[in-house]
Amino acid sequence: MTDPTPTAEGRSLVVTNIAELVTNDPEGGDRFGLIHDAAVAIVGGVVDWVGPSSRLPDHYGAHTTLDVGGRCVVPGFVDAHTHTVFAGDRADEFARRLTGATYEEILASGGGIFSTVDATRKASFVDLMDQAMVRFRRMLGSGSTTIEVKSGYGLTVESEIAMIAAARAIDMATPSDVVSTFLGAHVVAPEFRDDRNGYLDLVTGPMLDAVRGDVSFVDVFCDAAAFTVEEARRVCEAAYRAGLGFRIHADQTARIGATALAAEVGAVSADHIDHATDDDLERLAEAGTVAVLLPGVSFSMRTPPPDGRRVWDSGARVAIATDCNPGTAYVETMPFMIALAVIQGGMTPGEAVWAATRGGALALGLDDRGMIVPGAIGDLVILDAPTHIHLAYRPDAAIVARVLKAGVVVA
Ligand code: NIG
Ligand code: FE
Repeated sequence: MTDPTPTAEGRSLVVTNIAELVTNDPEGGDRFGLIHDAAVAIVGGVVDWVGPSSRLPDHYGAHTTLDVGGRCVVPGFVDAHTHTVFAGDRADEFARRLTGATYEEILASGGGIFSTVDATRKASFVDLMDQAMVRFRRMLGSGSTTIEVKSGYGLTVESEIAMIAAARAIDMATPSDVVSTFLGAHVVAPEFRDDRNGYLDLVTGPMLDAVRGDVSFVDVFCDAAAFTVEEARRVCEAAYRAGLGFRIHADQTARIGATALAAEVGAVSADHIDHATDDDLERLAEAGTVAVLLPGVSFSMRTPPPDGRRVWDSGARVAIATDCNPGTAYVETMPFMIALAVIQGGMTPGEAVWAATRGGALALGLDDRGMIVPGAIGDLVILDAPTHIHLAYRPDAAIVARVLKAGVVVA
């Protein structure tokens, strides 16, 4: 496969010799819209034509061609849940957990999220950006062309603004699209330990006011170790009043009713949902709230994996994401999440690829990606493999051959 040299046509390109193309076009027969021996034409960064090579219209012959040599092509991955902007790491805590300490104990003693808050507050803006940039580049290299990133390691107005500004700068400095989420309600800031309500007043008032123009979503960690259902409801209501979509870290360590809340208040997504009941899942399906599964967390935490099979079969729309963060899942690659969702979660490779692409796009409210159909952004991942099954079959392989962002080879 020879990379095309950029031409005057800019972001126009015809990708040919695709052994298997995953379009996710529901009109394309099966749900995943597979086309064999396919071609894709991208004009001005946007998909213009998709179909079997034999039917490629002649006029695309004038465009630059990328012959992928019989490889499989899937939509760019949409990693819809990450905490990729942070300073430092927590390898020492990971080691302690291996010998019996629990995540909750470490958090309760002022470590865990609080260690990262401390490191993030102390880091200079340039340092915070530099550390995060390395991770975003690896994510792009493994096929993530759209990446959500949450704040939540600042927990003061000033440091939350800095985290969100870093995300914005990374969006501009890298080819991937970065979608920002305000997670001031990650945990109660240490300064407010004895005044939870005071902290929630800050988060839903001045902090939200300061960041609302620079984020797409608001998130809240609704969990025994963080915020209650009633507190989370307050955060969602404030987001709604600010004109922002919202999502909830729900029922991760225990079922406290957070998944049901997400459906009730019309959250865009309910994430983790490890302890959701069948009834909770039914509510998500009815509400159209996307179920975001994070298989890297249970892998890293050595807890039972999310039951992707059950969630998919509930009828809820499913996304899978990395949750990249220094505590519960220091993982960056979507192909590995697909492998976990299939091998441990019982999803089929087609379902897992859909969840990593179209499902992620829906979780971010983005209708122009996660599919390879006319009108979608030309975000494509070329696999060093003939079929998408290899994404699950070879979890340890460097399976991503090329990444195209809006029709341009970027990795
Ligand atoms: O998604 N659950 C809360 N937030 C992260 C963990 C953050 C951390 O431990 O630093 C999560 O798992
Ligand atoms: Fe998270």
